[in-house]
Amino acid sequence: MWGAEGFPLSVTAAIEPASAAFCAASEQHRAMVAVHVLNGPNLNLLGTREPATYGAVTLAGVEERLKAKAAAANVELTFRQTNFEGELVGFIQQAGLSGAGVIINAGAYTHTSVALRDAIKGTDALAIEVHVSNVHAREEFRHHSWMAPVCVGVICGFGVASYDLAFDAIVPLLEKRAAKPTG
Ligand code: DQA
Repeated sequence: MWGAEGFPLSVTAAIEPASAAFCAASEQHRAMVAVHVLNGPNLNLLGTREPATYGAVTLAGVEERLKAKAAAANVELTFRQTNFEGELVGFIQQAGLSGAGVIINAGAYTHTSVALRDAIKGTDALAIEVHVSNVHAREEFRHHSWMAPVCVGVICGFGVASYDLAFDAIVPLLEKRAAKPTG
């Protein structure tokens, strides 16, 4: 079975259960997965913005690290940033509808945007919310996330390593989903 972009949607759907188990165990049949890393407002300032809270690594530095991890894991990586809520909604829709996983640091929109939550839910995107800082150790208005309930998990407080941890967590989930027989 083949997806819109020519990638197999499922490596096991068209074969018998016994051989399906064999194929699922075979590295040769590992489905290629895609991850979109989406960044919201002010994350373009990473590296110079409030360094005591967010550290010294720039967003370009984060992108470079993740691209290296993705290349090593044979994962297709898209990395984006915008200061506009509607554009972030569009990025989520694109990722979700294409079956890519989403690692999202929505910045302040995390705490204000129902639209981002609806975009994740509406496209059935497999998403992980990340934050550089530990939002729960900060002001109370940062404790609430509209997206967290529709994400598979939330990683925060590990500096830019939050992105690495999210990448390590999302890839096996996407591979598992890609290997699942459809319908
Ligand atoms: C942030 C935390 C948010 O509360 C804040 O508005 C940001 C960055 C983080 O990565 O720690 O812009 O998402």
